[in-house]
Amino acid sequence: MSTARRIIIALDFDNLHDAEAIVDRLGDAGQSYKVGLELLTVAGPALAARLVGEGKDVFLDLKLFEIPTSVAGAVRAAGRLGATMVTVHAMGGSTIMEAAVRAAADFPQLRVIALTVVTSLTDTDLAAIGLSATIDEQVIRLAQLAKRAGCHGVVASPQDAASLRAELGPNMLIVTPGVMLRPELTAVTTTEHTRPADPAAAIRAGATHIVIGRPLTRAPDPAAVLAQLEDELSRLQAPS
Ligand code: C5P
Repeated sequence: MSTARRIIIALDFDNLHDAEAIVDRLGDAGQSYKVGLELLTVAGPALAARLVGEGKDVFLDLKLFEIPTSVAGAVRAAGRLGATMVTVHAMGGSTIMEAAVRAAADFPQLRVIALTVVTSLTDTDLAAIGLSATIDEQVIRLAQLAKRAGCHGVVASPQDAASLRAELGPNMLIVTPGVMLRPELTAVTTTEHTRPADPAAAIRAGATHIVIGRPLTRAPDPAAVLAQLEDELSRLQAPS
């Protein structure tokens, strides 16, 4: 897998025009994009379909947490669109993850990625929803469930990448959002990641993909940020 495809650019925009502008500015350098609920709701799947048509990887971040029939239907829709990744909440349990995996089986390019614990949550947040586990325990528990359900990978904080790689073995994908770039790479830093790490550290720890949004898309020169990031990551020995 090329380094460029390991860098998933989050198109978190509230309008199609700004999302397309970033895609156009990045051109061939941008090989992998994440389309989430905001852009899908405001603009529909047209941009995702265009990206697929141009040979890009498209991660549809649907964060599915529904009855199994609805999850399966949404996964099939993602597969028909040509998405390469779709997310399902591991917190929704084995049944919906298994439904997602079964639905994805008809689409060889589609990977079902289970979301463990959203990176903005803390132990206190888990306690508030009645879970006595710590974040670390919950991440491992959900990742084990996801693996048993047949999911192809997990989404997790970069700080969990090493323990997850040890737990899951060499084959599962580990997708890490919540990465921060060093100030010399971008002027744009985000604050709501409770446990961030830099992208190289995430890949070294065992992540196969990083998701990067605002520090790249809101930078004055997104192409320069992407080029430097790709250069930095391409020097690492990443898992294939
Ligand atoms: O912060 P940034 O803009 O790079 O976020 C990129 C993606 O990372 C978002 O689309 C979101 O899904 C994910 N994210 C996350 N946890 C956060 C903040 C963002 O998982 N605390």
